[in-house]
Amino acid sequence: MSSVFFAPAGRLRGAVLAPPDKSISHRAALLGAMSAEPVRITNYLQAQDTLSTLAALRAVGTTIEPGGPGEVIVRGVGLRGAVAPEGPIDVGNAGTLMRLLPGWLAAQEGRVFELDGDRSIRRRPVDRIAEPLARMGALIEATDGRFPPFVVRGTRLRRISYELPVASAQVKSCVLLAGLAAEGKTTVVEPAPSRDHTERMLAGAGVTVRRDVLAVSVRGTDELAARSIVVPGDLSSAAFMIAAAVLVQGSRVLVRGVGVNWTRTGFLRILERMGGVVVGRLEAMPRFADRIVATEEPISDLDVHAGSLWGTVVEPEEVALAIDELPLVALLGCFATGSTVVRGAQELRVKESDRIAGVVEGLRGLGAQIEATQDGFALTGAGSLRGGVIDARGDHRMAMLGAVAGLASRDGVEVVGMDAADVSYPGFAEDLAALQ
Ligand code: S3P
Repeated sequence: MSSVFFAPAGRLRGAVLAPPDKSISHRAALLGAMSAEPVRITNYLQAQDTLSTLAALRAVGTTIEPGGPGEVIVRGVGLRGAVAPEGPIDVGNAGTLMRLLPGWLAAQEGRVFELDGDRSIRRRPVDRIAEPLARMGALIEATDGRFPPFVVRGTRLRRISYELPVASAQVKSCVLLAGLAAEGKTTVVEPAPSRDHTERMLAGAGVTVRRDVLAVSVRGTDELAARSIVVPGDLSSAAFMIAAAVLVQGSRVLVRGVGVNWTRTGFLRILERMGGVVVGRLEAMPRFADRIVATEEPISDLDVHAGSLWGTVVEPEEVALAIDELPLVALLGCFATGSTVVRGAQELRVKESDRIAGVVEGLRGLGAQIEATQDGFALTGAGSLRGGVIDARGDHRMAMLGAVAGLASRDGVEVVGMDAADVSYPGFAEDLAALQ
């Protein structure tokens, strides 16, 4: 395991290109595998998680070849053509792969698939996908009824209308992908909006997708027509660069090519409320009555300025739109005036690590005044952070959080397990160094 020391930085300057979006890369590869015609994916993320997806899709019969620079070409097997491999499909550390792939596999009549992954994945619940898939007719047999390794028994699926108990784009996407193979209209109702990349991509592939307030539906189909997909930069990765530029005094950084789909920019809205200055052309939040699903993924450069911050309260309905950036909200809160509170974020406990425990214990070790709550955390800003040692706990976002904390701290931060960043952002430390 690698330990890396991040020293306090002088002002950050320059430009950085956001790495390709992880969520969208997973989905693009999966849609390619489900298509009968080849799909060209431009700017596919070459990181541990999304390489796990390519390997898993190969295991079920898909051919994947390199295209031009930054491209992969996926030659899929069609909606109903996945092959059952001999052994388990290894999802590695990738929760999105683990929750989306079964939506497709459940529709493979008479075929049986086993899925397993690393130590972290074995503590992440799959009952949330097992339940709707069972209602559609598939059988999922999970360890202790809840965890990987688990088995998916494919069958002829029937349509459902399903109310999600938690706002989760992964579960929503799983049901929508399964719905493609069912006859008629499958509907998912979310308690609050979550990222809508699956909906946009399916609409772009010719599927009838409708949104009505919090309900989203797809019509069953025989074929997808996704010929080419361009992956934008990842806001969740860019967020670390944005936070570093806001926190290190005198900084001004341009983060280029960031996906600014409104369902991903909750962090920027929270940051703006805290006084952070980020200038870009963000997609506007639509009126909820809109029925048409956009097929585009909007992209913008983001111009970030350092500045002083004040605390804020993140309410439950904002959580899904900023879920992966909430650890950074805690870090920003340490440097703000007043208190910062995050509520309704119990989902953080079942991410790559327990991110409530990790953030609270980790930042406390660096000198923060922060308390865990049942569903989030509460902290009092001191305008600065001492520094020290933080354990990434095998979690990519915790590793990058520690690095940014180091740059903004008084004494620097040693991150134990920095290599975890390779899950979503290989080259993160180099990109950060290039801004110094
Ligand atoms: C993701 C959805 C979120 C997020 C994860 C990626 C996705 O998970 O935390 O990193 O690609 O759909 P949930 O949908 O479970 O909240």
